[in-house]
Amino acid sequence: MTVPGPQRLFFALWPDTTVRSGLAGLAGSIQGHGGRSTHPEDIHLTLVFLGDVREDRFDCVTEAADGVAAPAFDLSLGRVGYWPRPRVLWCGCDPAPEPLLALVDGLQQPLRACGFRPERRAFQAHLTLVRKAHKLAGFALEQPIAWPVSEFVLAGSEPGGPPPRYRILRRWPLAIS
Ligand code: 2AM
Repeated sequence: MTVPGPQRLFFALWPDTTVRSGLAGLAGSIQGHGGRSTHPEDIHLTLVFLGDVREDRFDCVTEAADGVAAPAFDLSLGRVGYWPRPRVLWCGCDPAPEPLLALVDGLQQPLRACGFRPERRAFQAHLTLVRKAHKLAGFALEQPIAWPVSEFVLAGSEPGGPPPRYRILRRWPLAIS
């Protein structure tokens, strides 16, 4: 992969058009948070955050992903939550289903050999919908958003630029059984 580096990279699940419009619709329907909604094209679920990656480590990173053998799976996004410290409103699934945890683990293991340390904080399956939000009391989703997950991606972030801020660099399909 040839990308000028270093770059801030992360592995993620990226919603297709249908799921993305469901999530953007949900974000639009949550009123009174006073925050900044994520650009619809930027909505994603981070699997593994790598941070700034030097160019000479890109190959190791992509080879780690090449070796992941994981099946496609379904996610049910049924929860809207709020984290007061980063003031983030998110949508996600709690608990995370086993195939999602296995995919995260399947990436983390080979990434250790590239010099990346796994996150110390527990993985929380979420998609950030609004930043700098006020706390909302008792918002509940009427119906979960169904997300058939068939691939994962390596994405790069361009902080400070205009949205969309993230760019998909490569995609890996998940095995259909
Ligand atoms: P967030 O949506 O909860 O902010 C690109 O920045 C992606 O990586 C975002 O999904 C962001 O999560 C996540 N991210 C940013 N910094 C991180 C960190 N230090 N540890 C884990 N994930 C991080």
